[in-house]
Amino acid sequence: MQKVLGISGSLRENGNTEYLVRYALELFDQTSFKTEFISLQGLTIRPCRGCYGCKNTEECTQKDDDFNFVYQKMVEADGLIIGSPVYFSSVHPQLMALLDRAGFVRLWSGKRFSGKVGGPITVARRAGHNMAFAQLLLWFFINDIIVPGSSYWTVGVAGASGARDAAKDEEGLNHIRRFVENMTKVMKALRVWG
Ligand SMILES: Cc1cc2nc3c(=O)[nH]c(=O)nc-3n(C[C@H](O)[C@H](O)[C@H](O)COP(=O)(O)O)c2cc1C
Repeated sequence: MQKVLGISGSLRENGNTEYLVRYALELFDQTSFKTEFISLQGLTIRPCRGCYGCKNTEECTQKDDDFNFVYQKMVEADGLIIGSPVYFSSVHPQLMALLDRAGFVRLWSGKRFSGKVGGPITVARRAGHNMAFAQLLLWFFINDIIVPGSSYWTVGVAGASGARDAAKDEEGLNHIRRFVENMTKVMKALRVWG
């Protein structure tokens, strides 16, 4: 069974990002896909030190368990949905720490995240989605991940804590629904061809 991993980069408990990533995962046909959710809330992932140690070892020289836990889940997944709250028009720094390190280890291993399917979700109260969304898209692209489209960018407009806003953003939810439909089609096609 193909696995889809959803990661929320928000450190806010029961936040909007978590709500939307979970929402996306629940849309997958659970008889065909195994879904798993990971929140970075409660985890400590240090930033990349730029030591280039992964160039020779194919693993990160920093031995923090939280990074390795999430990184292994990313490697094992066939599908990846990565959500971030928008902070000053950017992706959350702890999520970027994860993506920098995971991306660099995969780059030097020559494997990237090739053949996986996925895409971003960003959440902002008002503005800055495009920058953060593009930041994640650039990460997906350089990592050789197939990104299906949707009827709009998969962004949520939400500010209040406790996911009170994300659940009300009907338009955002519809675009996520369309994205999951497309992601499902691509993953099923890859299953047939693979
Ligand atoms: C440090 C910080 C910076 C933020 N920057 C922006 C921003 O640039 N644009 C925006 O619309 N909202 C901004 N927000 C609001 C969050 O993006 C918004 O509350 C979002 O719903 C948080 O997602 P979460 O509930 O998953 O943590 C910021 C919030 C914080 C704490």
